[in-house]
Amino acid sequence: MRLSTFFLAEQSAFLRRRNREWRHHLQRIRTFIGESLQRAPRDRPVLILGAGSGLEVPWDLAPGQSTGWDIDPTSRLRTLMRWRRWPDWVFGDLTGSLEELQSLARRSIRQPGSDRARNPEVAARRLAGLIPSLHPEPRQLQQWLELHRPALVVSANWMGQLGVVAQRLVEREFGRSSPWPEDPEDPDPLSEALDLWIGRVLQTHIQLLKACGAELCLVYDRAVIHGSTPLQLAPFQPEWTRQLQSPGDLSLSNPLPGMAVETLLPEPIQWERWLWTISKEQRHLIEAVTWTSRFHQDAIDKMK
Ligand SMILES: C[S@@+](CC[C@H](N)C(=O)[O-])C[C@H]1O[C@@H](n2cnc3c(N)ncnc32)[C@H](O)[C@@H]1O
Repeated sequence: MRLSTFFLAEQSAFLRRRNREWRHHLQRIRTFIGESLQRAPRDRPVLILGAGSGLEVPWDLAPGQSTGWDIDPTSRLRTLMRWRRWPDWVFGDLTGSLEELQSLARRSIRQPGSDRARNPEVAARRLAGLIPSLHPEPRQLQQWLELHRPALVVSANWMGQLGVVAQRLVEREFGRSSPWPEDPEDPDPLSEALDLWIGRVLQTHIQLLKACGAELCLVYDRAVIHGSTPLQLAPFQPEWTRQLQSPGDLSLSNPLPGMAVETLLPEPIQWERWLWTISKEQRHLIEAVTWTSRFHQDAIDKMK
């Protein structure tokens, strides 16, 4: 299956789940992204990553030279239908390495020189051993940034999806057999290898964005909370786990393994969090950060 078709299916399923509970999230994210878009110079390029159908992106506030980036082949058309805008668009893979992951998974499940499937446990171990050789090379994004020198890059909630995307890509290649251990307590080298790879991909991505000199406006899933245990957010603190307050035990997963955003982007201009109820059994802790290297440079200049 082609990557674009895969993303089309994923995004259609996501949009079908849309419900009234999302209103709070949509208002928060559009306000946050909207403030950056309004601040952006009108005569410089702006890049919006994970732009999707524009559900979370207030395109009416985006400067004329704004470009959307999303691998879903219907994203630009859906943006036109939602916002009556037809911006420039890039339909590439932001990570630059999903196709390679897909092909490693395909190779691992097949016996060499034949179409016969390997034992899934053996194949999963083999894939886990191959994943460390995958080096993230987001060349298409790097070239775009070097060519256009944007004043602002918005990351509209795509980073937290990478883990689920990677898992589903691998599962598709394995077909009817599962790549994961039956007992969740058993060792799972494939999940461990994927987590390390996700960390490498996202760190490379953030370093690339930092180096391009644009203001960054990043919104992403900071945590996924499973189950319906009551929960509220305590006053803001950089370590998100200390901010989640609950009388019960929380079942959490981290969509950004190995990523300490507070270390990668120290002293952001703005930093916010809110909860997004996806369903009765699933809530997301959303984090939104605005950061600029120019701001740091200005502060250093003032101290001179
Ligand atoms: C959770 S959705 C966010 C929705 C979007 N911000 C909107 O307003 O509709 C994540 C989006 O990022 C895109 N995406 C995820 N991973 C991507 C990748 N590696 N390269 C390009 N686009 C990606 C998906 O196709 C999807 O449209």
